Amino acid sequence: MTKVSRRRFMAATTAATITLPIATAARAQEAEGAASVSVEEALRNRRSTRRFANAAIPQEQLLRLLWAANGVNREDSDGRTVPAWRSAKNVDLYVAQEGGVGRYDPAANVLETMSEEDLRGVVSDQSYIVRAPAVLIYVSDRDRLAEAAGESAADEMAMAIGAHVNSAVMAQNVYLFAAAEGLGTVLIGGSADRAAIAEALSLGEAQTVTYIQPVGVPR
Ligand SMILES: Cc1cc2nc3c(=O)[nH]c(=O)nc-3n(C[C@H](O)[C@H](O)[C@H](O)COP(=O)(O)O)c2cc1C
Repeated sequence: MTKVSRRRFMAATTAATITLPIATAARAQEAEGAASVSVEEALRNRRSTRRFANAAIPQEQLLRLLWAANGVNREDSDGRTVPAWRSAKNVDLYVAQEGGVGRYDPAANVLETMSEEDLRGVVSDQSYIVRAPAVLIYVSDRDRLAEAAGESAADEMAMAIGAHVNSAVMAQNVYLFAAAEGLGTVLIGGSADRAAIAEALSLGEAQTVTYIQPVGVPR
């Protein structure tokens, strides 16, 4: 599959959120109608959802979800909403939707278009995943991880942990965001078709799909 030129996704109705400087991104989450439930309430509602209604997710809500997953919350240090082993920024978040695939750019807080193909039918053979309006795809870059790992890069176990744990902590933020905003999600390790995703996204040798995570309105 050929990649189309990367265009910055901007939902016309939500340009304010998307174009705000990162320093004000956190405040923008609130200003743009983010949920105001307590962390405890979100934790109480957190669960895995495997049945999705035939309903779209507003793009501004999706962008706030991505910010929760891996957004910049400290501009001076490129600090993120998630912790990371060795501060490695090795995990990229792709999003497969009906209109194509985007990659979240935390620095700009935008979803960059990577492909205009609907890859939801490729990511898994599980029909409920294909029906979700958005499927997050976690892609770890081994080169970036190795650079952060230093001498530990020779330790295969440490590298595997760095790839998967750094993805999974993002996934937990997505679970909590979903619980707070009435969305449903489930982290998928088992039935992700990693080879098909890698081919469809033209991933390089160093890139590994760790997990996928459908998100939608629960049915
Ligand atoms: C690392 C990881 C991988 C998972 N992989 C799958 C999976 O492949 N398929 C699936 O249906 N659920 C998967 N889950 C979700 C678990 O099945 C789910 O969290 C567990 O059953 C507890 O249910 P709850 O999340 O509703 O509390 C995974 C969860 C984690 C943390």
